[in-house]
Order: sequence, then C-alpha cells, then structure tokens
Amino acid sequence: MPRVLSGIQPSGQLHLGNYAGAIRQFLDLQHAGNEMFVFVASYHALTSTRDPAALKANIHQIVVDYLAFGLDPAKTAIYVQQDVPEVTELAWLLSCVTPMSWMEKAVSYKDKLAKGISANVGLFTYPILQAADILAVDADVVPVGRDQVQHLELARDMAARFNEEFKAPADKPVFKLPAYRLAAEAAVLPGIDGEKMSKSYGNTIDPFQDEKGLRKRIMAIKSDSKGVNEVKDPDTCNTFQIFRAIAGKDDPRTVALAGRYRDPGAEGFGYGHAKQALFELLLDHFGPARAKRGALMADPGYIAQVLQQGAAAARTKARAVTDRARAAVGL
Ligand code: ADP
Ligand code: TRP
Repeated sequence: MPRVLSGIQPSGQLHLGNYAGAIRQFLDLQHAGNEMFVFVASYHALTSTRDPAALKANIHQIVVDYLAFGLDPAKTAIYVQQDVPEVTELAWLLSCVTPMSWMEKAVSYKDKLAKGISANVGLFTYPILQAADILAVDADVVPVGRDQVQHLELARDMAARFNEEFKAPADKPVFKLPAYRLAAEAAVLPGIDGEKMSKSYGNTIDPFQDEKGLRKRIMAIKSDSKGVNEVKDPDTCNTFQIFRAIAGKDDPRTVALAGRYRDPGAEGFGYGHAKQALFELLLDHFGPARAKRGALMADPGYIAQVLQQGAAAARTKARAVTDRARAAVGL
C-alpha cells in the first residue's frame, strides 16, 4: 500500500480551498486504505506568526477540524510537527546538499520579496523543512493543491541529490523519491473575489461558519451583472466552480445547475439562485462535520491522545530514516 503524507500550516481557519484541494484527497486516500500520515506544520507557520496564543489555538483547531472532516486516528497518524524532532535534524542534513540557487527560485520566498516583505532565513529554507517532513516517513504520495507543486519538485530534487552525493546504491536509496497528487477538479479553488482562495487574501469561505454568516459570505461571491433571463456560462462563474468542486463534476446536482445557467427558462435563473443552491449544498455536505466539531472541541483529552498516538507512529518511521541518513554521511 502506498504511504501518504501531507500537512497544513496552522495559520488560520481552514477554508473550502484547503478542503477541496487537500483535505478531500486525504479522506479519499484514507478511504482507499493507504498508510496515512497527516500533520500540522507548526514550524512552517513560525516563519510568519508572532502570536503564541493564536498559534496554539490554531494548532488545536486544525486537529479538531481534521477529525471533524473524517480523518480517523485508527487509519491515519495525526500529529504536530514539533512532536517529531527527527524532522528538524533531517532538514539540516538536507540543507547541506541544497544549492542556494534552488531556494532563491522558490516562489514562497520570491513572492514575499516581490511584496517588499523582508524574509527571514526560515522562510528562505522553508522548502527544505517541507522536504524533511515528507522524506522522514518515506512517503510515496503527497496530496496538495497546485501552489505546492514547486515545493514537491524541490523535495524530490533534494532526495535525489542527497542519494547521489552520498553514493547510496540505486536499490537502497537513503531517501525515497516522493510524488505529488492534485485534486482533479480543485487544484486551485477560487475565493469570493475570483482570485485563488487563500487565508492571506481574505477571500475564503469557512465551512464551519454559522448559517447566517455563511449565507452572507456566499451572497458576496463576485459575479457579473447578467439578469435572471439571460443565458450564463457556468464555467466562468465562481459560484459554479465552488459548487462543482464540492458536489463533484458528474453529480446530478452539478449537471442540473449547469443546465439552469445555460437555459434559465421562463421563470428565470439568476446568480442569487445559484448562490442559494451553493449555500444548501454546503450545509448538506458539511452537515456531519459541523455536528461533530462541537463535541471534539470540548474534549482536549481525546485530542491529546490522538496526537500522542500519531506522533509515536511518525517517529518510528522518522527514526529509521534518520539513522539511515546519519550512517550515509558518516555520523
Ligand atoms: P492558504 O493559501 O490559505 O494559506 P495553505 O498554504 O495553508 O493555504 O494550504 C494548505 C493546503 O491547501 C495545501 O495543500 C494547498 O495547496 C491547499 N490549498 C490552499 N488553497 C487552495 C485553493 N484555493 N485551491 C486548492 N487548494 C488549496
Ligand atoms: N507548505 C505547505 C502549505 O503551505 C504545508 C506543508 C508543510 C506541507 N510541510 C508539508 C504540505 C509536507 C505537504 C507535505 O500548505
């Protein structure tokens, strides 16, 4: 069975883009019986967070939400990055084979510089820590959204470079080369303004928001000014793209909705109707997760137990990989 690993930074409330691009893949891969490792990338968040109380709360919230969405601790090792310290040791070993030029071209760093934000060294070497997360458990597959592809290519390059420089035999590599996996229809989900949905753009939809707030948020999705009787193109509509990503391309509700855009009929069909359909879909789709979340929030003892069990599983793998890497370099 392939081994799957992925993580999300605890930098704010999870949104539909995270769900459609990443978390839904975790659930599908878990359901298919893969060996699963899903963690919270706390150290990565420290490249930008300066609020310890918020960091703590966000870490707890992401774990609760992973469980509410349906990750099952009996099938998936769920842990926080700092509970697997081998990862930071591996990051150092990898940094010693990583050319500066690879990091200089990394988008996460280049974007910050372009915005005039002075980067710290942690942000500069962010992809190395990410590679260590992945290589630490010998992951075969890493499910992510499209914005992470470059980081995944770098992780693969670092693994190959290390194996080569330390002359690991081809049939016994120190690091296994991972592959990334994208969600077919939601590699980049748009936000309410039509740009990529992202915590940093303030354009997200939170699947756990209260009904009134959620409805208001959906009604704020940007659309053109076509009237209820005009023919519309579902493929260029943000509301429809979000609907399709959650319901699925071939779902009868998606097919029916696309039909109404193309043929509003005598009674008419406007963006307000489409948004109402999306609102109802979200309540239906996330109903079970919304119901579970409250009980999970109120049970920190259970969360602590899940994390302890997850970290133990991840550490067993990470210890073996770190021993291999130490031996290869002569330590
Ligand atoms: P954000 O951009 O909101 O800070 P993260 O960087 O924490 O999101 O992303 C966590 C995971 O969710 C990654 O795998 C990322 O690729 C995925 N993801 C984030 N936003 C989107 C989106 N709009 N569409 C698809 N996947 C996304
Ligand atoms: N960089 C990822 C993000 O911003 C988070 C992350 C850290 C990650 N380590 C990882 C994702 C390892 C996949 C695998 O979303």
